Amino acid sequence: MIQIRKHERKDIPFHVKWFNNFKVNKYLGDKLGEKTSLKKEKKWFSNYELAKNKKFFTICDKSKPIGLVGISNINPINKTADLFIAIGEDNYHGKGIGKDTMLWIIDYGFNTLKLHKLKLAVIKNNIPAVRLYHSLGFILEGEIKKENYYQGRYYSLLLMAIFNKSKK
Ligand SMILES: CC(C)(COP(=O)(O)OP(=O)(O)OC[C@H]1O[C@@H](n2cnc3c(N)ncnc32)[C@H](O)[C@@H]1OP(=O)(O)O)[C@@H](O)C(=O)NCCC(=O)NCCS
Repeated sequence: MIQIRKHERKDIPFHVKWFNNFKVNKYLGDKLGEKTSLKKEKKWFSNYELAKNKKFFTICDKSKPIGLVGISNINPINKTADLFIAIGEDNYHGKGIGKDTMLWIIDYGFNTLKLHKLKLAVIKNNIPAVRLYHSLGFILEGEIKKENYYQGRYYSLLLMAIFNKSKK
């Protein structure tokens, strides 16, 4: 059973560990496989604290932080936002935690923030993530072909979205 709590400054060292793990960072961001540093992550957190259009949370096993989930680019007019998830600790993959966490953040986006549409972009070859999003009811909105270069080849991105059924 996981716990999800507010993302805090004390979690920054975990960013560095997780986002330097190639099993995680090969699927994240505009520059796949990009390494990070304590300095970069401190800067990210300082910007995050000032931002009004983002909400991030730490996924924990008891008190141990194991990953990060968040909503960004919250658009109060369109009521849309982008989702992010990364389980940073290898031995927590494939245990249903991604699914439980996504159910939680979707509920938060639709029922707390009252959003209408939640979106994400996923590397087409990220089989666990694509399977997870399909199983949660995300639909495919498009494919951006051969967008991201990583270790000698290009990867395509799938644009996926889920809609709040209680809104017209
Ligand atoms: C993608 C990620 C969040 C999935 O979380 P998870 O806890 O590992 O996945 P779950 O155990 O909840 O399983 C989710 C689905 O993927 C499937 N799955 C999990 N691991 C798999 C694997 N190695 N191969 C194929 N399918 C797999 C499960 O069967 C499940 O499908 P189902 O709902 O149809 O049963 C997690 O692996 C992760 O953080 N990866 C690194 C960062 C990343 O890729 N983030 C997403 C960027 S868009």
